[in-house]
Amino acid sequence: MGMEKVLTKMVGIENSQNIDVYLKHGGYQALPKALKMTPDALIQMMKDSGVRGRGGAGFPTGMKWSFLPKDNPKPRYLLCNADESEPGTFKDRVLMEDDPHQVIEGLAISSFAIQSHTCYIYIRGEYVKGAKILNKAIQEAYDKGYLGKNILGSGFDLDITVHRGAGAYICGEETGLIESLEGKRGWPRIKPPFPAVYGVFGCPTIVNNVETLVTPVHIINRGVQWWKDNEPKLYCMSGHLNRPGTYEAKMGTNLLDLINEYCGGIRHGRKLKAVIPGGSSVPVLRAEECNVAMDFDALAKVGSALGSAGCMVMDETTCMVNALWNLLKFYAHESCGQCTPCREGTHWLEMILGRIETGRGRMEDLDLMLETANNIAGRTICPLGDAAAWPVAGLPDRNKGNDLNGQSFVNKFREEFEYHITNKKCMVTIPHEWN
Ligand SMILES: Cc1cc2nc3c(=O)[nH]c(=O)nc-3n(C[C@H](O)[C@H](O)[C@H](O)COP(=O)(O)O)c2cc1C
Ligand code: SF4
Repeated sequence: MGMEKVLTKMVGIENSQNIDVYLKHGGYQALPKALKMTPDALIQMMKDSGVRGRGGAGFPTGMKWSFLPKDNPKPRYLLCNADESEPGTFKDRVLMEDDPHQVIEGLAISSFAIQSHTCYIYIRGEYVKGAKILNKAIQEAYDKGYLGKNILGSGFDLDITVHRGAGAYICGEETGLIESLEGKRGWPRIKPPFPAVYGVFGCPTIVNNVETLVTPVHIINRGVQWWKDNEPKLYCMSGHLNRPGTYEAKMGTNLLDLINEYCGGIRHGRKLKAVIPGGSSVPVLRAEECNVAMDFDALAKVGSALGSAGCMVMDETTCMVNALWNLLKFYAHESCGQCTPCREGTHWLEMILGRIETGRGRMEDLDLMLETANNIAGRTICPLGDAAAWPVAGLPDRNKGNDLNGQSFVNKFREEFEYHITNKKCMVTIPHEWN
C-alpha cells in the first residue's frame, strides 16, 4: 500500500500535463539516455526486464519488437493502442489525461528502439479530453525538441499523430485498429501475417498498449534489476467496492489486498461473491478463489487471466445470470460479423441467457451454452470470439483437445442458473434494508 508511485506519480500534481511541470519532476531524462543506446540494446533491455503487454494478451514486449524483419526496406510504424475498450478497463485514460508527457516519452523511446519515424496514438472516440490533452502535450514536446526532426541532436526523427476512433470495441483488436487507421471498416485481418511483418499500409508495424509503452521510461531510469524487483502495475478496480478506481501496485499484489486494503473493502460491509480479474473477456473467480496474486502466471494457474487488469468485483447481491447476460449483450453487439461462429454464437448466447433470466429457460440450455461457447472459441478470425466464449465456459484445456475447461460462469455458479430455470426467478434475494 505504501509503495512509491512510479507510473502515477504525476497524478494529483497541479498542471501535471504541462511539459515544464513534467520536466521539474524528472521527466524526459530517460529519452536522452535511450538515444545514446543502440536500438538492439533497447530491445534486449525490454527482453531482460520481462515486460509483458498490458493490453490483454500479455505477450512479451521485447520479443514482439524483435519480430520486425531486418531486411524489409519499407518504413516501420509504432501504433499506440489507446482504444481502451475492454469493459472494466480505465487505466490508460489516467496515464493520458494526467501524465501525457510520460506517454510521449515512452513512445519516443519505443519508436527509437524499433526505428520507427511515425507513431500513431489510436485513442477511443469517447476520450475527447485525453485526445485534447495529448495533442497539446505533443505540440509542447515538438516545441522543446523532444519530437520532430533531429530529436535532442541525435539525428533521430519522429512524428506522433493522435487518431481518434469512433467507438467500436473491435478497433482495439490490433488488426481491426490497423484497418480503421487506414480509413477502412475495423474488420480484423487473418493472422499470419502478423503486424510486425505486414501491418499498417502494408509496412512492418508494432502495436502496443499505452501502459506497455511507458514501461521503458522507468526501466531506463531505474534499471532492469529494479524493474524486475518492483514491477509497477496499474489495476482498474470497479464494482461493489467502497473506493473503486485505478490503483498502482506491485505486479502480483494479492487480489484480496487490492479489494480490502486499496479499495476499502466491499461496500456496505457485504460479502464478496465473485471477481472478473482481467477485463470482461476472462473467466470469473468465485470468492474462495480470490486469494491469488494479480499477475499473468498466478491467474493462469487458477484458470483465469490478468488480461487488461480490469478487475470487476461483485458482491452477494449480484445475480450471476444477469451479469453474464450483460456481458453477452456486449459481445453480440460488438461482434464485427465477419465470422459465422462469432456473429451467430454471441447472438445465440445472448438470447439463451435472456430467456433464462426472464423465466423461460430450459435445463438443457446450460449445456447448450457450453456447447455454443466451444463452437466459437478457436474458430474465428480474431480473439473477440474467444473473449465471448471464455466467460461462459472457461479457458481452453490442452488435455481436452483445446475444448474449453468449463470453469467459468455457467459451471461455477450452476446452481444459480438451475434455480433460475426451475423457479423462474433469481436466487439472490436482496433484504429490504439493503435497497
Ligand atoms: C476485441 C479486442 C479488443 C481489444 N482492445 C484492446 C484495447 O482497447 N487496448 C489494447 O491495448 N489492447 C486491446 N486488445 C489487444 C490488442 O489486440 C493487442 O494485443 C494489444 O494492443 C497489444 O499490446 P500489448 O502487447 O502491449 O498488450 C484487444 C483485443 C481484442 C481481441
Ligand atoms: S471473431 Fe468476431 S469480431 Fe473477430 S473477426 Fe470474427 S466476427 Fe469479427
